Amino acid sequence: MNLITIDGPSGSGKGTVCYILAKKLGWHLLDSGALYRILAYAALQNATSLDDEEALAKLALNLKIEFISNGVAVDSFLNGENIGDKLRTETIAQAASKVASLILVREALLARQKAFYKNPGLIADGRDMGTVVFPEAPVKIFLDASAAERAKRRFEQLQNKGFNVSIAEILSEIKDRDLRDRTRLIAPLKAAKDALEIDSTMLTIDEVVLKVLDQVKLKLNIVV
Ligand code: DC
Repeated sequence: MNLITIDGPSGSGKGTVCYILAKKLGWHLLDSGALYRILAYAALQNATSLDDEEALAKLALNLKIEFISNGVAVDSFLNGENIGDKLRTETIAQAASKVASLILVREALLARQKAFYKNPGLIADGRDMGTVVFPEAPVKIFLDASAAERAKRRFEQLQNKGFNVSIAEILSEIKDRDLRDRTRLIAPLKAAKDALEIDSTMLTIDEVVLKVLDQVKLKLNIVV
């Protein structure tokens, strides 16, 4: 089966690596974090409480979502509106992290995520792709980087967008989020037993992509 899962914390380079791989292989892409962000956005829009697990699960089942590539990235549409930019705020990140810790929400999004697996193949990006959503995937990667390096990457990204931010504050937010993601009871962020762990701290994006493609050759006999 043509399926690659890439799990890891934010700032590990996952999103970019997955996008490049999907393009190179011509496969579909699932950005599962975007699903949690869209749900959080929809909940804030229609004033659903972030503590109302049943209402959030119902909302998750009924969301009308589309992901469409614009050539350089994937745009997220909710009810036909492109909300890609609106998903990347700190408010949405916090709300997404909250809804992602609810078991009924995760259950409601499970079938939706599995449905992304279609011919000719899928790259699944997230926190629990290899452990919960696609445990059968033949190629599993756990991509990590030191907290300091991830903070530096985020800092540079925000600076380029013109935001005046402090690297110390970003590092402290990253550490808080890591602790929450790695210690939560359901689907915590962790490497699957059969995942290849790659530390991207000292690697370029292209070097990470090559390492994943080595696995694709080894496990699936596909060369690109
Ligand atoms: O990768 P991201 O920052 O877009 O993810 C948004 C939130 O969703 C983050 O708090 C982690 C959570 N998430 C998750 O719990 N499981 C996934 N498979 C993907 C993301």
